Amino acid sequence: MQTHVTLDQRLKKVVSYIPQGAILADIGSDHAFVPCYCLQQGLVERAVAGEVNVGPMEAAQGQVALVQLEDKIDVRLGSGLTVLTPGEVTAVTIAGMGGTLIATILEEGKAHLSGEERLILQPNVDAVDVRRWLLANGYALLSEAIVKENGKIYEILVAEQGEEMLYSEEEEQRDWELFFGPQLMREKAPAFIEKWQTEKEKRQYILEQMQQGNGSDVLQGKIATIRRLIEKMEEVTN
Ligand SMILES: C[S@@+](CC[C@H](N)C(=O)[O-])C[C@H]1O[C@@H](n2cnc3c(N)ncnc32)[C@H](O)[C@@H]1O
Repeated sequence: MQTHVTLDQRLKKVVSYIPQGAILADIGSDHAFVPCYCLQQGLVERAVAGEVNVGPMEAAQGQVALVQLEDKIDVRLGSGLTVLTPGEVTAVTIAGMGGTLIATILEEGKAHLSGEERLILQPNVDAVDVRRWLLANGYALLSEAIVKENGKIYEILVAEQGEEMLYSEEEEQRDWELFFGPQLMREKAPAFIEKWQTEKEKRQYILEQMQQGNGSDVLQGKIATIRRLIEKMEEVTN
């Protein structure tokens, strides 16, 4: 518990995309650090802290009570966006989970959004699933960021309903952009290069193991897919 709440670099970056004066929902709000920090910094007017698990929800309630923000932060128990009524918040943060789970939370809870909210999403892995959901549901990526902290690399995606401008029209290129991030693969920040060089090395190891296999058609197909992925990883990190 902290009376003056501080955030790590990852969450500071997430918070940097919340518009000043927003009404925030932080979903998966273990300890409610993000809402408490935002209120203490005067960044948001009010907030909802949503948690599906009782332990983290109680930790959030304890933290909110400690900083005496019970009148500004509403801690709610429930899954994903289902704790919200459409239109009651203007920004949503979902951070520190896998991209597949974030995409599921968005899909299962989309009826609880008005479509006016800014979404700030920080998948730990599988950001491709989040980008696919955003594209399929009429959200434009406004910005992408990548940060390295304590040896781990995190991607942050910021989106609002609107016409998508960052992706290529061409299907194969768009598939790669969904995978690597359209802005991230253009910017090639050091953390981006490091992430995909590490991923490439993992795939090269898998490829070596597979090449010792039985040579069946199925295996050959998988080998070809991994080779293509490695080539692309080579390309985007050069
Ligand atoms: C690893 S913590 C991340 C906490 C914080 N958002 C962060 O980025 O540091 C993930 C939190 O999400 C919660 N969670 C997982 N699935 C959820 C869901 N469907 N709805 C709400 N919270 C969920 C977990 O209980 C856990 O507290």
